[in-house]
Amino acid sequence: MNIFHTIKEIKAHIALLRKEGKTIGFVPTMGALHEGHLELVRKACKEDDVVAVSIFVNPIQFNNPEDLVKYPRTLESDIKKLNATACSIVFAPAVEEMYPEPDNTEFDFGKLDKVMEGEFRPGHFKGVGIVVKKLLEIVEPTRAYFGEKDYQQLVIIRYLVKSLAIPVEIVSCPIVREPDGLAMSSRNSRLTPEERALAPDIHDALNRIKENYTWFTPDGLGKMIIGDIEQNPLFRVEYAEVADAETLMPFFDWEDAEHAVLCVAVVLGQVRLIDNVLLY
Ligand code: PAF
Repeated sequence: MNIFHTIKEIKAHIALLRKEGKTIGFVPTMGALHEGHLELVRKACKEDDVVAVSIFVNPIQFNNPEDLVKYPRTLESDIKKLNATACSIVFAPAVEEMYPEPDNTEFDFGKLDKVMEGEFRPGHFKGVGIVVKKLLEIVEPTRAYFGEKDYQQLVIIRYLVKSLAIPVEIVSCPIVREPDGLAMSSRNSRLTPEERALAPDIHDALNRIKENYTWFTPDGLGKMIIGDIEQNPLFRVEYAEVADAETLMPFFDWEDAEHAVLCVAVVLGQVRLIDNVLLY
């Protein structure tokens, strides 16, 4: 495994691989790797000649400073997990390496970053856009892999890559869940045992509604799921929205969207969990 901490070193290494005609798969992460990340890595290993993983807790995408401080940092065990895959490159830069000076690049994501996460996490997608653009410029991958749990992020990254004509194929992978249905997330490790036992209720509620969504209007369905999840007062739903799966915009009749996604953000104790389900 080649572990790089500087941009110069990883760029030089990748340049050699490119010269040899190798395709490069790239999985950007913030570390604290779980099966969800490893599935992305394994998919990349099947599709690309060489696979690189970045591990960088990107400070500028955290709108909540406490969340940044508490974000798990587990580089050593992350590298062990990656050693068990065919990934051969890890890029783990320091904050100063990525941001020697403050980066204030502005993006126009249209309405994509104004809804859902964008409403509750101001500046979050700007920070994601800056770091993803920078990482793609450093690694210059053939394909980059993202999980569908961060559904809005995935749509925004596809838009970013298209609008800036970055020559990379964005590949998405389905949400990986614990056996009890909880979507895998680095934040799950911060749940208390009691909260962890309750957390699968979120997915249960999404699953129940997926079966019978046509009983409701799109708007009514969002409201219904909030009531369902908040039956337990330990859950506080920040949003539950039915959106057009491509535009992320709300709509009024089921025929108005070719594909629809139901996205939720729920606070449980000190932890904010997101999940989603594709309705059709
Ligand atoms: O999804 C994540 O882990 C992060 O938002 C990403 C894409 C690695 C950017 O920091």
